[in-house]
Amino acid sequence: FNMLAYAQKTADISTISEKTLNSILEKNRTYYTQGKVADYIPELGKMDANAVAFSVVENNGKIVNVGDVHKKFTMQSISKIIALMIAVTEKGEANVFDKMGYFGTDRPFNHFSNLETTGKPLNPMMNAGAILTTSLISGEGEKPFLKILEMVRYITKDPTIDYSKSVYESEKSTGHRNRGMFYLMKNNGLISGNEDQLDNYFKQCSIELTTEDLAKIGYFFANQCVRFDGDATYKNPDIAKLVESQMLIAGMYEFSGEYARTVGLPSKSGVGGGITVSVPGKMGIGVFSPALDKHGNSLVGYRMILDLVKQYNLSVF
Ligand code: DON
Repeated sequence: FNMLAYAQKTADISTISEKTLNSILEKNRTYYTQGKVADYIPELGKMDANAVAFSVVENNGKIVNVGDVHKKFTMQSISKIIALMIAVTEKGEANVFDKMGYFGTDRPFNHFSNLETTGKPLNPMMNAGAILTTSLISGEGEKPFLKILEMVRYITKDPTIDYSKSVYESEKSTGHRNRGMFYLMKNNGLISGNEDQLDNYFKQCSIELTTEDLAKIGYFFANQCVRFDGDATYKNPDIAKLVESQMLIAGMYEFSGEYARTVGLPSKSGVGGGITVSVPGKMGIGVFSPALDKHGNSLVGYRMILDLVKQYNLSVF
């Protein structure tokens, strides 16, 4: 990746203002009517379908927020990139990827894929691989979840971030498909612990945050795991590269290929309606709108990202 060539190709992002983001938001906000709020987790179905927010965090730490900026939503699958970072830091990449693949997918996020054939999840972004990844983080009981929560609090610099007990309970009581994957992987010898480990996955999915927080997470991985305020405690170019590569090939599930073609940036979606985007070396983007397309990605969120990316020529390709 030629950072200099990329810096020259992209437009000057310091000109991104509230006005820029607002005009993109207003252009797209009504498209939520074409999507559907996730209701397979009953608590998620209660979300306000027309809520929308859009944030960016730039290199100098400048934050721009528009829309329902204080609105909290659950991060859901976006938590998978944090879990991956922690598991690889603790266990090493070779040990984690001995148990799962680096594959892309043409299957939905909750597909069993080849658990029944090779026995291993396709990648750490789909549910199976993510459940396994979290089970690889060390510690008894909810310790692995608490590590994920603490990392989210560190990256966002917001110690008040917590998880929604009601969404967690709702996921736990309805997540039988995830439970099925958990036990199949246990049967395959990939998981040795008990159902606490699955509960940690449900809890990490239920962490509540804002688009500003998502933009800070996108920024972190876009900048070698350096925080938006320059704190370099976790600086690690290699882990950032690994996480971004998984975001690029599987972060939007079976839509990832088309997304790479149109947006061309490492991104991770969650069924809560959030998407976090890493603009390498430059910026983090966070969007939220709970109505999803048929792949489980925020419909308005995708449209807003696409417009910003086109306007500033941000695709890495
Ligand atoms: O496992 C689940 O069903 C959810 N807790 C997370 C899935 C998710 O966010 C997929 N994203 N698009």
